Amino acid sequence: MNESAWKLFERVAADYDQVAPFFAEFGRAIVDVLDPPGGCRLLDLGCGRGALTAPALTRGCAVTAVDASPAMVEHLAADFPAARAYVMDVQALDLPSDSFDLAVSSFVIHVLDDPAAGVAEAYRVLAPGGRFVFTGGSARTSNYDRGVQPDPDAFPLGRRLDALFQEFAVHLPPNGGMGRPVDAAVLLEEAGFVDLREDQAEVRIEFRDNATLWRWAMSHGYRAFIEDLPEEHHREFHRRVLELPAGDRVLRRVTGIWSGRKPA
Ligand SMILES: C[S@@+](CC[C@H](N)C(=O)[O-])C[C@H]1O[C@@H](n2cnc3c(N)ncnc32)[C@H](O)[C@@H]1O
Repeated sequence: MNESAWKLFERVAADYDQVAPFFAEFGRAIVDVLDPPGGCRLLDLGCGRGALTAPALTRGCAVTAVDASPAMVEHLAADFPAARAYVMDVQALDLPSDSFDLAVSSFVIHVLDDPAAGVAEAYRVLAPGGRFVFTGGSARTSNYDRGVQPDPDAFPLGRRLDALFQEFAVHLPPNGGMGRPVDAAVLLEEAGFVDLREDQAEVRIEFRDNATLWRWAMSHGYRAFIEDLPEEHHREFHRRVLELPAGDRVLRRVTGIWSGRKPA
């Protein structure tokens, strides 16, 4: 994908997380893990339609939410008026230094043109002792680190989808698709964070049928991959999604939750 990622999200904002609540479920699970106290000054970086903002507000956090996509921010502001919502590039925040207790960024850092700039900005705006937390796209997971292999039969839909993406990736042009793996520990350490942690969150989303699964795939970052396929492979990919086994309806995904603390 040659355009910046937020432009794709601008195009899909009306459908984003509306076909299936994939990101909302992750947001709830992630905020449960973080367990922020009421009154916490929380910054949601690349907030989308509010997957993290919503559960943070429920817990009484004072939420500032920013996203480069004006359509995403418009939806969030309409749905969650208690949050302060701004159109902003997370790589160059127009926010004062040392002003948040917790900065969270779910499924954003790995799609940035310059992930290190996004992490450096999170560091700058956090108060000393504050924590930055992000998910998505890390090349390092505890499973890799510990050599644990996932059970190949336990969650077939996710495995089948991954295999399909892998098979079709050879047809992408250079720089096709969205996002690149990042090394969470390196990013955090290079920005100055200490006391690194890794937690996990899991979601299980049930899809009514493969047509719904396809609509979901086209409503978020997968769309960049699918649109970047040459026409004949795009059509073939679509056909293969529609032909996935009918009994296989639950998508289970696990993400690492990487975080570090700004020294006090
Ligand atoms: C996969 S979505 C995640 C949204 C939300 N965090 C969630 O969990 O649903 C990625 C989001 O990052 C935003 N984004 C991408 N590049 C950005 C940038 N440079 N600055 C701010 N937001 C950006 C996109 O517009 C999109 O809303």
